[in-house]
Amino acid sequence: MAATHVGCGIEGPTLPRRLQTSERHTVAEFRILALGGDGIGPEVLASGLKVARAAARLHAIRLSVSHDLLHGAAWDRWETFCQDETVAAAHAADAVLVGAVGGPAWDDIRVAGGPERQDGLMRLRRELDTFIGLRPAWHWPQLGDHAPIKRELANAADLLILREMCGGIMFAQPRGQTRKDGMRVGFDTAAYNEREVRRFACAGFELARARRSLLVSADKANVLESSKLWREIVSEIGLEYPDVELRHMYADNCAYQMVMNPRQFDVIIGCNLIGDILSDVAGSISGALGLLPSACLGARRCGRFKGIFEPVHGSAPDIAGMGAANPVGMVLSVAMMFEYGMCRRDVAQRIRLATVRAMENGARTPDIGGESATKDVTEAIVSELG
Ligand code: IPM
Ligand code: MG
Repeated sequence: MAATHVGCGIEGPTLPRRLQTSERHTVAEFRILALGGDGIGPEVLASGLKVARAAARLHAIRLSVSHDLLHGAAWDRWETFCQDETVAAAHAADAVLVGAVGGPAWDDIRVAGGPERQDGLMRLRRELDTFIGLRPAWHWPQLGDHAPIKRELANAADLLILREMCGGIMFAQPRGQTRKDGMRVGFDTAAYNEREVRRFACAGFELARARRSLLVSADKANVLESSKLWREIVSEIGLEYPDVELRHMYADNCAYQMVMNPRQFDVIIGCNLIGDILSDVAGSISGALGLLPSACLGARRCGRFKGIFEPVHGSAPDIAGMGAANPVGMVLSVAMMFEYGMCRRDVAQRIRLATVRAMENGARTPDIGGESATKDVTEAIVSELG
């Protein structure tokens, strides 16, 4: 079998000392709130849970899972994108697993009260204050020529997009639509205060320090005031991390560089909007959006992070219900749940290895050049777990 490269999270530590979760925490029962969401969300979530249960069984970990509706599914039932009860259940759980949210059926629904009311996932991120969005991406040699980027360019690329999740243009007020000079006007506010930038930048430096100590901060400081402040604060924090090489890069150039020369990057930090865009660009390095996992982490309590774990991909309504969705992004998000939410890096590694082996043995959905169904890939991963 070819050398197994599983990228970020398996070679060397992914977590810095201050964020480390090396202590093994044994909780009597790890409680997961599972929110399938919309489109392919419930299908990939079922795969993720199947793998989670199989891995937990092998390590004698007790999981308890409760289900609820989010976003479009919640709207159809209750006419709200995220119920207060769901927020309370998320607070009470040890981790939240999300499939995917959104779809054209709900795009035009207008609800007063900001993004927390307009999007179920945004509400959860904000309510749980999970401000550190980890979105790792690496080149998968297993995909061979199916990868959209030439192998010579992407080979061995392994990067971590860190997206600020709870502030910036996606949340700041004022925002809305109005009329001016007889025309309709839509507006948002791109604002960050120094506390928000500081706590996020610190996480970026810590994570970079635990990897290859290269930090690129992507912004638009050539035009935006909020980016000028962002850059200033990131530079200030950088003085506390002389061992981490800091580069500021305009976000547009960063997107270009990611495609042209992805190997130059280690950790990239960006505001909510820039991080959202760059993490999709990272999908081209991995080979498909369906392979990308993510974790939104908040404060660390008792050694563990409270987190929302979700694949980066959307709800793909065009293939919903066809059993063809790629479960890998979800399964790798489950691995992140074990690592950050439960301090069980050993279980996370096992899941990542099983996923790579299943792929090497031909379990691939159509988006990455295969013919396997979601359930076949899931079963292959479960059987590779051992
Ligand atoms: C993501 C998604 C979400 C976001 C949407 C579904 C609200 O694009 O997680 O990247 O913009 O954050
Ligand atoms: Mg996105």
